[in-house]
Amino acid sequence: MKPVVVAMPGNEPFADALAAEAGIDRIPATVRRFPDGESYVRADPLVQGRRVSIACTLDRPDDKLVPLLLLAAAVREAGALSVGLVAPYLAYMRQDRRFNPGETISARHVAAWISRHFDWLATVDPHLHRIAGLSQIYGIASRVVHAGHSVAAWVQSKVRNPLLIGPDEESAQWVGDVASQANAPFVVLRKVRRGDREVEVSVPDVEHWRSHTPVLVDDIVSTARTMIAAVDHLRRAAMAPPVCVAVHAVFAQRAFEDLREAGAGDIVSCDTVAHPTNRISVVPSVAAAVQDLGF
Ligand code: R5P
Repeated sequence: MKPVVVAMPGNEPFADALAAEAGIDRIPATVRRFPDGESYVRADPLVQGRRVSIACTLDRPDDKLVPLLLLAAAVREAGALSVGLVAPYLAYMRQDRRFNPGETISARHVAAWISRHFDWLATVDPHLHRIAGLSQIYGIASRVVHAGHSVAAWVQSKVRNPLLIGPDEESAQWVGDVASQANAPFVVLRKVRRGDREVEVSVPDVEHWRSHTPVLVDDIVSTARTMIAAVDHLRRAAMAPPVCVAVHAVFAQRAFEDLREAGAGDIVSCDTVAHPTNRISVVPSVAAAVQDLGF
């Protein structure tokens, strides 16, 4: 029997695109809240005897994890052969170290919970910094899709004379990769984060590139403070308003409006987190990764 995909609420468009790309069906599932705030889930009988993937992007994860893990259990108990997770955005990857005494390494705990309920995981550019690979924390098969190729193709076709800019040292690896695929130069800014919303950046000799269109690329835009600090700096260096590209458009609270008001040019994102800025699709790459997992 052909595999099927099930969407957690809000993930239907991504799951439909994935199903179309992979030539499979999306089947329904019931996920709702009881009046007391607890989750109710129910698997469709069609999952019986099939390999099932559940599509659930994990921005704002605290409200999603409980119903997601319950649905994985329900799907398995309803007779699925296997249950995989397609999480285009994988949450809790940034608390990857005990920065202060008394903290915990959240990335490890969330990975353990997910590993206990799923057979495999496919995701897009998880924030791998102090954790070098998903296999260090996930006990299940996993595939990481890189959005770089799709971002580079978009930049190449839409931006005239681009200069790729990474807002911090952490972005260097994949801004460099996007730049080489887009056949464009790149620079990396230096960032100091002093708190959740306090970020400073400095730019090495960016003035040399005034004839280029600056394209800021970051993996996650959450509070947008990193992007805003970079936009500010570029403005002071008399550069053109930068095109801002996010792989994961998390945009907490008013972050999107703040970024626009700070002087960003076009704001564009991949479709890993549904947002009006989604213009770059990673679905074909995710479908290939899922098929590679033997789904
Ligand atoms: C940091 O390590 C990441 O690559 C992003 O730069 C960061 O997560 C962006 O966060 P925010 O939008 O809150 O500044």
